[in-house]
Amino acid sequence: MSGKVIRTNRIFKADGKTVIVALDHGQFQGPIEGITDIQTTLKNVKEGQADAVILNPGVIQDNAYILGGNLAVLCRITGASTNYSPSFDYHRLISSVKYAISLGADGVVVMGFIGGPGENQSLEILGRVAEECSIFGVPLIAEMLPQSPDHFTDPKFISLGVRVAYELGADIVKVYYTGKDSFSQVIKSAKIPIVIAGGPKGTDSLEIAKEAIELGAKGVAFGRNVFQAEDQTDYVRKLVEVVHN
Ligand code: 5RP
Repeated sequence: MSGKVIRTNRIFKADGKTVIVALDHGQFQGPIEGITDIQTTLKNVKEGQADAVILNPGVIQDNAYILGGNLAVLCRITGASTNYSPSFDYHRLISSVKYAISLGADGVVVMGFIGGPGENQSLEILGRVAEECSIFGVPLIAEMLPQSPDHFTDPKFISLGVRVAYELGADIVKVYYTGKDSFSQVIKSAKIPIVIAGGPKGTDSLEIAKEAIELGAKGVAFGRNVFQAEDQTDYVRKLVEVVHN
């Protein structure tokens, strides 16, 4: 399956690691601080030499001139539920693998919820998209999120999410970091590469990235810690240093 191999090589560098910057928050949270001017943020992230960005279809379409080259594009194709939705885990397909390919995407991102009323639907979507990704040779990144915030970093829920993503055919899984004592167990849940999501802006995000990489994560997929940093380019450079060196 050469398509998946070639596109995966654009996402991960020769050392098998990746620095992904998630810039897809606008679909759920609107024009929050750091992504209001998405063009400038994209340029800064590219300058900092991130390996890939997660974007929604409209943003890819409007900013194609900045993308590509050494910056891989991962297109989120699920969503349709904002911060004001009474049921935030009812994600639906908002695009398709075929359309993501036409936009120039190197991979697609799908949300998988664990433990809530939207679980069945999101996991069905994940499985169906995995099938399409295999047909079209596109890497699938599953973002596995426990439905309850109480379980966001609970190793039981995260391990289950990683395993479910693998069983349904995902190539890469993105989850929250569970902490030093449990993350090695999470890593053993499946053989696919795990990248960690960042969460709200914190002061110790670079240390967390370092710790997770040492314990076996294959990279980071940070959003707010990057685009809400005082200097976005400088923060990306620091992340690149932690992950790749
Ligand atoms: C946006 C997302 C993000 O891709 C994910 O949560 C990573 O971003 P952050 O580091 O800000 O948590 O799903 O809604």
